Amino acid sequence: MTERGEKGFVTLGVETSCDDTALALIDEKNNVLADLISSQIDSHSAYGGVVPELASRMHQEAILPLLERLFAKAGVKEPRKEISLVAVTSGPGLMGSLLVGVMTAKALAQGWDIPLIGVNHLEGHIFAAARAVGERQPRPPFISLIVSGGHTEIVLVRKFGDYELLGFTRDDAAGEAFDKVSKTLGLGYPGGPAIDRLAASGSAEAFTLPIPLASTKEIEFSFSGLKTAAITLIEKERERGGELPLADICASFQRAVVESLLIKLKLAVKKSGVKQITLSGGVAANSALRSALAGYAAAKKIELFLPPRAMCTDNAVMIAAAGYNSYMRGNRSDLRLSPNPSWSLW
Ligand code: KG4
Ligand code: ZN
Repeated sequence: MTERGEKGFVTLGVETSCDDTALALIDEKNNVLADLISSQIDSHSAYGGVVPELASRMHQEAILPLLERLFAKAGVKEPRKEISLVAVTSGPGLMGSLLVGVMTAKALAQGWDIPLIGVNHLEGHIFAAARAVGERQPRPPFISLIVSGGHTEIVLVRKFGDYELLGFTRDDAAGEAFDKVSKTLGLGYPGGPAIDRLAASGSAEAFTLPIPLASTKEIEFSFSGLKTAAITLIEKERERGGELPLADICASFQRAVVESLLIKLKLAVKKSGVKQITLSGGVAANSALRSALAGYAAAKKIELFLPPRAMCTDNAVMIAAAGYNSYMRGNRSDLRLSPNPSWSLW
């Protein structure tokens, strides 16, 4: 094993899979020494979504200045002596974006002569909740609901490193549906936070939207039909003229998404018999989803692990935590590590 520096065994996490350049330093107890994110949201929002080529270029510009700021924040003066491991997201994600993180991480590991570990982005999201809050941590087996802009999955974590996919989306991810409905409403990108905010003052019963696959016996999701139903509703309301009932539309759409997630999560709990749940991914920041899950968990005596909102969206703390755990399980990468945009965890 690599020696520990004076700060203990410190892992540098590097995340560039989509549109956030994120770096973090954690110690072996998962304490966060520094955590920085350079968001590209303002640059992409003009286009209504992430533009891959732009994302890649912006990662290149951001990553080294961000590293300097990270070291300044954590008081790292001699990284070669103070950092023990570099953990980097090597998939899934956008090829051009992943490349920047992976190449940077390889150069750093080689330059500092320390080990390198490639991390699956989804394993990172699982660890965002698994390293959760203080002393409370889930012990495998537990169920992880990952809901983001690119993923909607229910995973059974048998043990760390051993994951079973229990259910997934047939088409759009939940976050994608939030983003598309938001775009139609003229609320910009990313759509989730805007819809979440507006929904707070709306009525979820104002409009009836279909709850996708509500009565099937499978653990599966579909958000494409709901998205189309919401867009059709918005167009009809526009045709009627007058002010668009924005808050009511947001609340009704959000309710249908949350209901769908909850119905299938309940099914996963029933089928697996597992009584611990973690929630992660950008949509896990959603207020209605968080309170619906909290209510369900309390009623059914299920232990729920909700990461703080900032840990739900993409960040490098979760990558460092997943990478450190993977390293301790004996996994290693070397300088042949290359990005795998479609790396499957199962
Ligand atoms: O995990 P993440 O940062 O990136 C991906 O890996 O996709 O997730 C981003 C997604 C976006 O679709 C965004 O609209 C959604 O998470 N999101 C939310 C909320 N905050 C972010 N969706 C619903 N409610 C929110 N509060
Ligand atoms: Zn993500």
